[in-house]
Amino acid sequence: MHKGRKNIVFGVGNPAARLVFVGEGPGADEDATGEPFVGKAGQLLTKMIEAMGYTRQDVYIANVVKCRPPNNRDPEPDEVAACEPFLIQQLGAIKPEVIVTLGKHAAHTLLRDQTSITKMRGKWKQYQGVRLMPTFHPSYLLRDPAQKKWVWQDLQEVMRALGQSPQAK
Ligand code: URA
Repeated sequence: MHKGRKNIVFGVGNPAARLVFVGEGPGADEDATGEPFVGKAGQLLTKMIEAMGYTRQDVYIANVVKCRPPNNRDPEPDEVAACEPFLIQQLGAIKPEVIVTLGKHAAHTLLRDQTSITKMRGKWKQYQGVRLMPTFHPSYLLRDPAQKKWVWQDLQEVMRALGQSPQAK
């Protein structure tokens, strides 16, 4: 995928973050800017982060794949495998207290568990000794806003785990 990319989209945020979000891969806006989650889905993610009482600078945001899949198709297994060592190193360097995976690709990749995201979301998992909360991808919430309440429930769990009081939202 490097052949078609404009920019590598590696990750952004606090290298000492307590909380890391992992998405799927860059879209057109991310490819153009080199920063993850800056398009429409990204703006929704930013709102979610702010609703939790954080800013984008407090947390760290990364993706499973670092280059944009052509036409936003799903990344292929060999593309995930090629990029995964970078994600593993990012998580190993940051050593967050909580990882939130957004959508099925990040959860399936990090957990080696192909359970559907609908079944998986909202239930605490472990990744290398770090608590991991799978939730829906913000792009899915843009298509089906009624699902937002589940994501907010999952994020409130995360806030409790980090010792932040969940606000009524
Ligand atoms: N969707 C993702 O999964 N990651 C991004 O960076 C942008 C959109």
